[in-house]
Amino acid sequence: MKIAVVGAGTIGLSWTTLMLAKGHTVRVTDPRPDLAEAVRDAVHEFVPTVPGFAGEAEELLSRLEIAGSVEEAVGGVHAVQENGPERLEFKQELFAAIEKAAPAEALILSSTSGLTPSSMSARMADPGRLVVGHPFNPPHLIPLVELVGASEREVARAKEFYLSLGKVPVVVHKEVRGHVANRLQRVLFEECVNLVEQGVVSMTELDDIVTNSVGVRWATVGPFLAFHLGGGPGGLRHMMSHLMPYVPAEVQERLADQAEAVYPLASNEERAARRDRQQLEIISSKERDDDVR
Ligand SMILES: NC(=O)c1ccc[n+]([C@@H]2O[C@H](COP(=O)([O-])OP(=O)(O)OC[C@H]3O[C@@H](n4cnc5c(N)ncnc54)[C@H](O)[C@@H]3O)[C@@H](O)[C@H]2O)c1
Repeated sequence: MKIAVVGAGTIGLSWTTLMLAKGHTVRVTDPRPDLAEAVRDAVHEFVPTVPGFAGEAEELLSRLEIAGSVEEAVGGVHAVQENGPERLEFKQELFAAIEKAAPAEALILSSTSGLTPSSMSARMADPGRLVVGHPFNPPHLIPLVELVGASEREVARAKEFYLSLGKVPVVVHKEVRGHVANRLQRVLFEECVNLVEQGVVSMTELDDIVTNSVGVRWATVGPFLAFHLGGGPGGLRHMMSHLMPYVPAEVQERLADQAEAVYPLASNEERAARRDRQQLEIISSKERDDDVR
């Protein structure tokens, strides 16, 4: 596949490395004067942490193309991954230009952390072509890509594309500013700031609390499955009715029904055993990290 990477800062350089490591030809464009050198340095730096890749950076660089303009970058490609500055007007103009210059069937994807596809596609002839493919930094390493767009067909094509890159694409069904992962991070971080500001714990104490509790847990099971398993034989229904009076009763009912449909209670023992195995692995790898610290 031939892929255009538009914008080669933190995110674009990381995507470029991953896409090259997956065997694609990548054409990069960015007005920065040190573009060729920046890509070369990034590929050398990132390639050891591309999951499952054991090849050489120099071999990847033989499939790299540097383009002098957006139009030149997107001509004849199968997909465009945009990673320019996070400014709405800039992205609106950029996507109008990309749509004109890219092949009609090319995927048009944006890494935007916060902007919605309907706002960024305002100047496109076919706004449905734009799909947000928001990675969690760094994209060559962290699995998640959040997908949101107006066209189900384009979102489905984007999902196939990211699966082929070894990513974990998750479709977000309604566009909201900040998508999902960053909204969650923001709520938690606001409380981190409060607790440190109030002197409840120091910064390092708070970091130790997170990395030795919810960090280990949430790397293996998400917040819903964690409480479904934590609720014992009664699952999430029991957990919420006993410990979560702040969740209205009818919401508890709906969520418990959902949890029991997607995670049947009968197989929770197996899920808990898998969670424990994975947590053990994480804890032992963290001990090695602590030696370094
Ligand atoms: N940094 C993160 O943690 C993170 C995570 C996920 C998504 N994102 C999103 O990725 C996008 C890029 O963020 P970043 O952190 O890499 O920013 P960055 O500032 O590191 O990189 C932006 C790049 O865009 C280039 N650029 C400017 N005008 C351009 C043009 N006309 N054509 C092509 N390139 C142009 C700049 O020279 C720069 O190298 C943003 O939309 C951001 O929201 C960032």
